[in-house]
Amino acid sequence: PSSKVLLDRDFAIGTTDRRLFGAFVEHLGRCVYGGIYEPDHPSADERGFRGDVLKLVRELGPTIVRYPGGNFVSGYDWEDGVGPVEKRPRRLDLAWQSIEPNTFGTNEFMDWCRLANVEPMLAVNLGTRGPDAARRLVEYCNHPGGTTLSDLRREHGWPEPHDVKFWCLGNEMDGPWQMERKTPVEYGRVATEAAKMMKMVDPSIELAVCGSSARTMPTFGEWERIVLEHTFDHVEYISLHTYLNNYAEDTAAFLASPDLMDSFIEEVVAIADAVAAERRSSKRIMLSFDEWNVWYRTRRGDTRVREGWPVAPPILEEVYTMEDALAFGGACIALLNHADRVRAACLAQLVNAIAPIMTQTGGAAWRQTIFWPFADFANLGHGKVLRTQIDCPTYSATYYDPRGKEDLYFPLPEVPYLKLAAIHGDDTLTLFALNRHLDEPMRINVSARGFSELALERAQTLHNGDLRAANTQDDPDRVRPEALQGVEIRGSEVVATLPAASWTVLRMR
Ligand code: AHR
Repeated sequence: PSSKVLLDRDFAIGTTDRRLFGAFVEHLGRCVYGGIYEPDHPSADERGFRGDVLKLVRELGPTIVRYPGGNFVSGYDWEDGVGPVEKRPRRLDLAWQSIEPNTFGTNEFMDWCRLANVEPMLAVNLGTRGPDAARRLVEYCNHPGGTTLSDLRREHGWPEPHDVKFWCLGNEMDGPWQMERKTPVEYGRVATEAAKMMKMVDPSIELAVCGSSARTMPTFGEWERIVLEHTFDHVEYISLHTYLNNYAEDTAAFLASPDLMDSFIEEVVAIADAVAAERRSSKRIMLSFDEWNVWYRTRRGDTRVREGWPVAPPILEEVYTMEDALAFGGACIALLNHADRVRAACLAQLVNAIAPIMTQTGGAAWRQTIFWPFADFANLGHGKVLRTQIDCPTYSATYYDPRGKEDLYFPLPEVPYLKLAAIHGDDTLTLFALNRHLDEPMRINVSARGFSELALERAQTLHNGDLRAANTQDDPDRVRPEALQGVEIRGSEVVATLPAASWTVLRMR
């Protein structure tokens, strides 16, 4: 097929927020222990941070990292993770049925963030704990000194406040799997009081309230409305979570599924703005898409019942394929094309557990297939996102999502074969393009109005004839981008041929 794309330098959706390019580190499996932190690893520094992983994280380019959960945070006592390591308690982590040794905690995470050049995003426990523990954590982290909690941080070896700006009010509080799940009214109340007290401690912080844990939750919609009716005056963001799947082994539908993220975002915006309208408020609640990825193979079988309470078990270690990287790239495009309202987002997660970076404990670290589209997105996606008019053939698909007890089917009658985002940087124009046609290359013809004499700076494509191809420890570079040949530029016209089933980045200057 062929596609025509029209864009104009002056017609923008919005400017990307730095926080759109985030990731997530949870105390889950080998994400922390054996992932970012492994004191006995040959590449570890004196603090126990794996140097090989840090190098890959810097290359990947996340800008903000959410911590410490996830489901884990709903049972976490933050006090367990600070102070002298030898005195820290070992606890049962009920979320992942593991032992939590607490040798890594909030202060270590802050140090790691500085080394990784990322902003911290902290989640507080609104499951088994509540507003009081949350405001104490803000004081411990952000208050300069002169109070028992801030002086405790200083005593622990961190004299300067961590100055954490972005906080999540719990995690997936509507999920039956969550410790101390709540109704929307219960959560709305607790989140409001937590938000008030956290901001009394530090008025400069920004807060994200939990939206539904998925668009497929039976309570989706009503949950957002009720929770926002309670918290509207106290929060800046509402969260969204999506994990794309190909349980149905229907690649065309899987590659169409990022379009459901577009719908999800637009629906949450509509609900948030309806709550604003009822209050005659001009305030706009922004979206924090603080968990998104492909995840299904290691999901269904994960009953969370594990024999013997292991420390850092190898769980949720999804091995990503070429096909996954394509759906994942589609998700990046969906986020970019809503940069006006999605002001933060976190790829879930960063290392080992459903992650772009894999490690062997004691051994190597390598890039999964999804590493590549994320690195493009995070390193080249900053700027003004331009509106695009895309004229291209479509296909129809039905996406299956078994979240919850029901089997849900989502008809997608008109899926454009081309999914694309266009970013105008300081003096660059970058196109991210997903060709969803499984068998045929696609010729794209882009008219970039308002640009003159574009020159090609980078043309790279990720594709592999085998959609099941994956990167493994033995073959870590099987799927990696290569140069795209044959891109023609005439003034402000860009013409390229995208391989079948490919993710492509074109950057012009
Ligand atoms: O990212 C894995 C898990 O998925 C998180 O702990 C939880 O928030 C979500 O259900």
